[in-house]
Order: sequence, then C-alpha cells, then structure tokens
Amino acid sequence: MRVRQLTPDDAAAYQRLRLQGLQESPTAFSASYSAEADRPLSEIAVRVTPAPDGSLCVFGAFASENLVGILAFVRPAREKLRHGAELAGMYVAPEFRRRGLGRALVDAALAHARSLPGVRQLKLTVNAANAPARALHKMLGAIEVGRKRDYYGPGDERIVAKIDRAIFEQMRPKYERLGFIPPRTAEAAA
Ligand SMILES: CC(C)(COP(=O)(O)OP(=O)(O)OC[C@H]1O[C@@H](n2cnc3c(N)ncnc32)[C@H](O)[C@@H]1OP(=O)(O)O)[C@@H](O)C(=O)NCCC(=O)NCCS
Repeated sequence: MRVRQLTPDDAAAYQRLRLQGLQESPTAFSASYSAEADRPLSEIAVRVTPAPDGSLCVFGAFASENLVGILAFVRPAREKLRHGAELAGMYVAPEFRRRGLGRALVDAALAHARSLPGVRQLKLTVNAANAPARALHKMLGAIEVGRKRDYYGPGDERIVAKIDRAIFEQMRPKYERLGFIPPRTAEAAA
C-alpha cells in the first residue's frame, strides 16, 4: 500500500472511486452522485491538481497501483481562516477497509499540514451515525467542537471535530507507535 498526492493523471481513477463512494455512502459526503456523475474529466483533472502553495490537494491510497482510497486537504484562502485546514471526501473502497488505509490517508494529510507554516488545526466533519469514521476520528484524538443539525437536509446531524497542534503533540507517541510518523530524533525533540 502506498499513499501519495494525486496529479491530473489520476483524474479518471479518482472520479471512478469518488462516484463509487457517492453511490455507496451517500450520507458521508456533501456532494451527490447525480451532481457529480457527468462532470467532465477536464474539471476533475483541475480538482486533483495540487495547488502550488499546498492549500489544496487530494491524497490517494494505492494497492497494487490501483487507487482504492481518497482524502482531500483544503486550506481556506482567507487570512483569518488560514490557520485551519479541512479534511474532506474520505473514502476507502469496501474491500480494502480495516487495513489501515484511512489512517494512512489522514497521516499523510497531517504530515502535509505540519509542513505548511501557520496551519494549527485540522477540521473533520462526520455524520453522527457514521460509526467507522467517528471511531477513526476518535483514534486520531480529534475532539468534538460542535454539531450541525439538518445540515445536509432534514434529520442530518453532523459532528465537527478538530485536531490541533496540542492534540497532535499529545498523540505523537501513539502516532509514532502506530507508524503514522517516523520517530522524532533526539536532536529534533530538543
Ligand atoms: C471511514 C473509512 C474511510 C475508514 O477507512 P478504513 O481504511 O477502513 O480505516 P482504517 O482501517 O484506517 O481504520 C482505522 C481505525 O478506525 C476505526 N474504524 C475503522 N472502521 C471501523 C469500523 N467499521 N468499526 C469500528 N471502528 C472502525 C478503528 O479504530 C480502526 O483501527 P483498527 O482497525 O486498528 O481497529 C471507511 O470506512 C469508509 O470509506 N467509509 C465510507 C465513507 C465514509 O464514511 N467516509 C468518511 C466521511 S467523514
């Protein structure tokens, strides 16, 4: 398994997997299958092109060269909002779940966030009924900061959670143990 940022060459594979996700888990995403199904590949290619300043990119998890997991990283352009970035559109194909791909995708996004000066927190939004995603967020140490009712329509309840620098540092030993991040050298820790 390998995780890397997608490029325009991955547009077709990304769109296939994303449409599969929108059909299979419609309540997990703000986008809908009907609105996305006919989007031209040229638009998708733009969407998966990493922004030069790192503010926008999509991570992909590959198994035997096939794209089987995706996660978008979005940092707002506005100055007052740039300390936070959002993780969105996470999807792992059902046959590849519970193998650590979701974790590995978030790990890559965390490492990316840490590489961008000024990013201090990551926001994650999840449907209250989505037990697997909530378990993953909990494992990452994300803390609930709010709830949005009727967000994607009547009856939809979203939990907004965040991971900030302090939480990341608290979780560091666990992340290192799980292999999300390489152990810090004594020199770096000093
Ligand atoms: C949520 C999702 C991305 C998780 O992907 P995944 O690759 O299976 O996740 P991982 O294997 O990395 O799991 C990491 C941890 O999350 C928790 N977790 C994941 N799936 C779980 C499940 N079905 N039940 C309970 N805990 C679960 C576990 O703590 C797991 O660690 P463990 O396997 O060592 O116990 C995947 O289930 C998915 O694509 N679901 C549909 C779309 C979706 O809900 N997206 C998220 C929108 S917020």
